[in-house]
Amino acid sequence: VLSILSPQDLKGKKILISAGPTREPLDPVRFISNRSSGKMGYALARAARRRGAEVVLISGPVSLAPPPGVKVIFVETAEEMAREMLSRASWAEVIIMAAAVADYRPLKTSKSKIKKERQEMEIRLSKTKDILAELGKNKRPGQIVIGFAAETENLLPRASQKLKQKAIDIIVANQVGQPGIGFESDTNQVTILSPKKPPSEIRLAPKEEIADKIYDYLIEFLKMS
Ligand code: CTP
Ligand code: CA
Repeated sequence: VLSILSPQDLKGKKILISAGPTREPLDPVRFISNRSSGKMGYALARAARRRGAEVVLISGPVSLAPPPGVKVIFVETAEEMAREMLSRASWAEVIIMAAAVADYRPLKTSKSKIKKERQEMEIRLSKTKDILAELGKNKRPGQIVIGFAAETENLLPRASQKLKQKAIDIIVANQVGQPGIGFESDTNQVTILSPKKPPSEIRLAPKEEIADKIYDYLIEFLKMS
């Protein structure tokens, strides 16, 4: 219904989006995760669909309704997210990593519930694969890869460092740990960076509006290519 009021400026574009947290199991009942709600990634999926794109959403565990008209694939761990994103990457013209992928997972997952035997315990963790860096490295000609940078300090320098190190096209810098911005919030405030254009500051707005601004930026970016 809304699509007739929206510009169809992403019509037919194949967009692969990741959203939400991942869960890294310690045992059958416990996991390590983070505060991501999935709202930014789901807003990106809805907005892309509304503007005419063909959208596949790889989603971690969230409590959000699947966006109508979007193919949603649910995953739990960083490893599953990596598998789904990397196996579908060649299909996509645009890839957006909005998921808050766990950086570490427990080295061992216990098959039985861990008992509270000791006064202190240590959990050994092992780094997960950087999906975004992998997508950047294997980018095919013309493909656009967009990442997010979640930072509590030094937002813009760290975001532009990630843009370069992961060899991606666009990064959305997201100050986290403040009320109303980023994680768990319905609103967000971001700065969009790329090597081609001056930084674009997006004021505090609902995530669906932020999503539209990201696509406006993308369309400008594509015109410059
Ligand atoms: N990302 C990813 N795979 C990971 C970790 C992160 O694809 N294993 C992606 C995120 O989806 C995001 C971008 O990388 O698009 C940046 O994530 P962020 O957590 O801000 O940065 P990291 O590179 O993980 O570094 P750090 O957490 O140390 O700041
Ligand atoms: Ca991280």
